[in-house]
Amino acid sequence: MKFAPSNMTWLNLPNLPLPLKVLFTGYLLVVGVGLLMAGLQIMLTHGMADGKVGLSKNDIVYSYYGDRTHSLLENKLNGSMKANAPDEVRADIIKWVHKGAPKEDWDAHFKGVFEKHCVACHSNVPNIPNFKNFDEVQKVAATGDGATIQSLTRVSHIHLFGIGFIFFFISFIFSFSVGVPKLLKILAIAFPFGFLILDILSWWLTKLSPNFAYLTIIGGIGYSLASTFMWVTSMYQMHILSRNGKVYGNAWEQDLPQ
Ligand code: HEC
Repeated sequence: MKFAPSNMTWLNLPNLPLPLKVLFTGYLLVVGVGLLMAGLQIMLTHGMADGKVGLSKNDIVYSYYGDRTHSLLENKLNGSMKANAPDEVRADIIKWVHKGAPKEDWDAHFKGVFEKHCVACHSNVPNIPNFKNFDEVQKVAATGDGATIQSLTRVSHIHLFGIGFIFFFISFIFSFSVGVPKLLKILAIAFPFGFLILDILSWWLTKLSPNFAYLTIIGGIGYSLASTFMWVTSMYQMHILSRNGKVYGNAWEQDLPQ
């Protein structure tokens, strides 16, 4: 028997030899449960980042960009320090905090504002921050910065290597499917990789601007759909379609240029 593609009539998901089916099925089952667990974990960690159950754009913004609106300074100005400055002044300070409390504005304007409303206590009363020093104002104006560059590089490379491997084998198994139009097959195989890169890229972009959080959701949904499609098609062809006893021929040969 020649080792020619045309002779390998068993090289398709329905007609695969049983040992290979067991191998592919075992892998798909384990990876399938793994992906479900990953989804659950995302819901439990990132999903709760905004304090509400379920994954939303805000969860992603808080995880990567940070919760830049809730500094101690803002909380106090709306809380126990509320009586110490008129509403316009408090709003003015809060707006500045949302901008990241830049030093230029401190020198030009806010030094005077704090001087007038705050330092009577906040330079004399012990154990509270001294607001004559910009450093101490900056500390209470600080908000969560979201993910650090270190954590992003770490998680990015783990994801790219790990998920890249998972998608490689899911796509490899799926490449032996029969009857899937060639273009659809190519797109289904390519999509998870494309969306994975989009997903990782979106974390970095979201760190820069919260507007990119939608890309994270699109990336995640994109590769979930593509890999689910391949997973279901592969399982179906190995275990249900195979029961009709038909010989489908070499799946790869069907995809060769005619
Ligand atoms: C009458 C005195 C007084 C004035 C005026 C005052 N504070 Fe305070 N501030 C305090 C005291 C006392 C505390 C500690 C108790 C607390 O946290 O409520 C405090 C705490 C704070 C804290 C929390 C500090 C920390 O490390 O926990 C912030 C932020 C703050 N003040 C901001 C301001 C700002 C901004 C102003 C001006 C608009 C201001 N305060 C005016 C007395 C004052």
